[in-house]
Amino acid sequence: MMNEQPQETISRQPGQSLNHDNIQAVLAKYPNAQRELLIPLLQEVQEQQGYLSKDAVIQIGKHLKLPTSKIYGVATFYNQFRFQSIGKYHIMLCRGTACHVKGSFSLLNTLQRLLKIEAGQTTRDGLFSLEVVACIGACGLAPVICVNGEFHGNLTVDDLPKILNQYRNKEKKGDA
Ligand code: FES
Repeated sequence: MMNEQPQETISRQPGQSLNHDNIQAVLAKYPNAQRELLIPLLQEVQEQQGYLSKDAVIQIGKHLKLPTSKIYGVATFYNQFRFQSIGKYHIMLCRGTACHVKGSFSLLNTLQRLLKIEAGQTTRDGLFSLEVVACIGACGLAPVICVNGEFHGNLTVDDLPKILNQYRNKEKKGDA
């Protein structure tokens, strides 16, 4: 039988990862969890931690008595899961219908090339991370990206270098 979804969350400062004990606290809410709770557990840990750390995957595996390889296998199948912490500037690129029709695929390719990462990854300097998301409710601005809550709309690929540089400059000036 599925456990009822607990409402309680683990307190955490923004940007702070869950530590081992915090992950244990999440797992403790599902004492008799079976493998059908794997996805909800991955979602909850990712929601609180921002990503799935290796430690989190190992602990979830122990809790559900599943091999880590199986967990990675399942988690990588769903592109909602990420295995690196998000960057200082988290770029959400909309791939909803309106944005798709107006060229979001080209934006995605260009961002991946400029940042030298794939969607779901973080740049080596930790400055940017990239995530592909469904409609973010700004279809009138399509195609659109959202960086730390700031929307950039009606984009062309030529706008992207300038936008990235805005954030790099912010970083240099230390007013991020
Ligand atoms: S489809 Fe992109 S914001 Fe709605």
